[in-house]
This record gives sequence, structure tokens and C-alpha cells, in this order.
Amino acid sequence: MRAVILVGGLGTRLRPITYDIPKALVPIRNKPFMGYTLDFLREAGIEGAVLSLGYLPDQIQEYIGERDDLDGFTVDYAVEDEPLGTAGGIKNAERFLTDDGPIVVLNGDVLTGMNLRSAIERHEASDALATISLTSVEDPTAYGLVEVDHDMMVRRFIEKPSLDEVTTNLINAGVYVLEREVLDMIPEGCEVSIEREVFPRLQSRNRLYAHVSSSYWRDIGTPRSYLAASQDVLSGAVGLHEDFKYMDMAESVDMEKNVRILPPVSISSGCEISQLATVGGRVSLGKNCRIGEGALVEGSILLDGATVEAGAVVRGSIVGPGARVGQNAIVRGLSVLGARSVVGEGNVLDQGIRINPGVVLGPRSVSF
Ligand code: GDD
Ligand code: MG
Repeated sequence: MRAVILVGGLGTRLRPITYDIPKALVPIRNKPFMGYTLDFLREAGIEGAVLSLGYLPDQIQEYIGERDDLDGFTVDYAVEDEPLGTAGGIKNAERFLTDDGPIVVLNGDVLTGMNLRSAIERHEASDALATISLTSVEDPTAYGLVEVDHDMMVRRFIEKPSLDEVTTNLINAGVYVLEREVLDMIPEGCEVSIEREVFPRLQSRNRLYAHVSSSYWRDIGTPRSYLAASQDVLSGAVGLHEDFKYMDMAESVDMEKNVRILPPVSISSGCEISQLATVGGRVSLGKNCRIGEGALVEGSILLDGATVEAGAVVRGSIVGPGARVGQNAIVRGLSVLGARSVVGEGNVLDQGIRINPGVVLGPRSVSF
């Protein structure tokens, strides 16, 4: 059985990080997100995948090309010139799906410990044309809301419901098993949404079923959820079949005396951490990051080559590749710094502010 992984979206909600890195490759514990997706499929015995690509496809192909440990797990690429939407992206992958039988489809931005095998078994035991995995969330309005009956037949599928349409906490987890007939329902070469067009049609024919998972689940598509997923993986809360290391530090990290590292952390190779700096509270530092004297980095993700200068504070935020936080600046409250941006000395950034790639904020130009 093969899978289609949908990774063609622009990652709009994770900008400015996704201006430079496709959402499928943002790192979690210093491993590109796609690595978790591939592990998930391989652990369930899926034999290969078609990547349904559109935005920044070269980086994703390069990542797969560099992996020499895929042991017979075959990967093909279906690249869109224009976004074809979630169903259009599956249709575009059809030419690589040459086996008979159902296929698995996965949104490329979900991190989950759910049991895919049991979803497939459930699907095969019913007369469903499609089986959707469900998870429960506090606020379903950002997702696809799914109402089911006692037999797990879907009664209603509402993509991005308004608050007054919320009747359940169960949502589409972005993991499907589809019969080949579903592909025949999708017109070729045009934009089609599986959530808004295909699922409601299957539901009206009583051929859409669901399977509820209570395992860990998160969509990493916003700064808040990306950061939370990173922290969950670092603290071992996800239940992935990964070795959980309390402290994950490359040998080449150059650390002065009197540095405080508070695990769990993940620190990549080539990082330099100066004296009296504190790094902890579920932090991930990419390659070659520099943390200056007395700086504090807490509950954050720093991508490759990020710098936090002396006396600066980065808390609960995301610092893009090559970005720099100047001396005594404060970056907190889910701020997101784009690649190579500079937050000059003494600025205070807070409340989810996002700084675009390459932008330079002069000293003390922003404060909250
Ligand atoms: N190939 C291709 N083409 N892929 C696409 C396109 C496209 O035009 N548009 C989006 N994708 C990919 C994205 O890259 C992502 O991996 C996946 O499809 C889902 O798109 P998102 O933009 O992340 O959707 P969402 O998070 O708002 O909602 C979806 O996921 C939720 C669960 O995380 C829906 O499926 C919801 O119903 C669901 O609850
Ligand atoms: Mg998403």
C-alpha cells in the first residue's frame, strides 16, 4: 500500500519561516518535519509515497534525495504548476499509484502517534469509500469538523466551521484511507478541495466513515502549534517511537564555563554558547547558532545560524535561519523572526509579531 503526502501548501500561517523553508521541512528537535511523516508511514508498513508538491518543491526533493536510509520505501514526486488544492493534489499523484487497492493520504503537517494500521483495518472492514481519522481539539473552528453516528458513519463534514456550527470536538486529523473510486470523482487539472467538495459528496452517499484516535495529534501549521509540537517532542510527550533523549547535544558544541543548560534541549553541531548564558525549557538550537554572554534562550526554536547576542532574551519564540537578536533585546510571546532578519540592540518584541526575512530593525525601534 502506498501513500500520498500533501505538501503543496504555501504555509501562509507559518510565515515568515515558510518564505524560506517549506512547512514540511521545518525542523522539530533538529529533524526536518518530513522525517516524522516518513517514520509514521513506514512504521505502519506503508511501502512508499507520492509527494504532492507545489511550493518550494526542490528543497523537499533534495531532502529525500539525501536520505540514504529509506530501505526500499519508494518516493515519487507529483509537482503542481498551480496549486490544485487538497483533492487536486491527490489526483495529480494518481499516475504514480499503479497498485490496486486503497491508498493512504496524509496532510504533510500533522504530527501524530496514532495507529494508522488500525485505521486501515477499520476501513477495510466497512463499505466506506473513504475513512477519515478523527481527533478531538478544544476549538474546532480552524479544522474540518466531523459529526458521526454510532456506526462511525459521517453525518456532516464542515470545513472551518463558524462558532455557531460547532456541535462536537471531533475534527478531521488529516489522515485518510481512500478507495480508488474516490480518485475517479476528482476532475483532472483543476483546483479541488477534498474537504469542501469530495467529503460532503461521499457523506451524502453514506460512504464516508471515520475512525477516532485518542493518540497525540497536532497540526504544526501556526507558530503556536509548531512551537508546542517542538516542545512536546523534546519532552517525550508525543509517544513517537523515537529514542527519547533528555539532552540531545552534538559533540562539536563549544560551551564556555558557567553556562546553564536546562534539559530537555536539542543542540545541533557547531553551536557556540558563551559564559553565563542560559539555554533551557525545551529549546532547540539548529546548526552553528551563537548564544552570547549572559543571554537567555527559553522554550524557543532557533534555526541554523541564528545568533542571540550578549544579554538578550528569547522566550517562547521562533528565530529563523541566520537571524540575529542584538544585545539586550527581548524577543518573546510567540514572536517569529524571518531568515537573516536583525533585531537591533534593545528592541522588545512581543505578542506574536513577525519580522520578514532580511528586515533590519535599528536599535531600540520597537517596544511593547
Ligand atoms: N499538493 C497540494 N496542493 N497540497 C496542498 C495544497 C495544494 O494546493 N493546499 C494545501 N496542501 C497541503 C498542505 O501543504 C498541508 O500539508 C495539507 O495540504 C493541508 O493543508 P493546510 O493548509 O495545512 O490545511 P488546514 O490545516 O487549514 O486544514 C486541513 O488540515 C486539518 C488538520 O490539520 C484540513 O484537512 C482540515 O479539515 C483538517 O482538520
Ligand atoms: Mg494544516
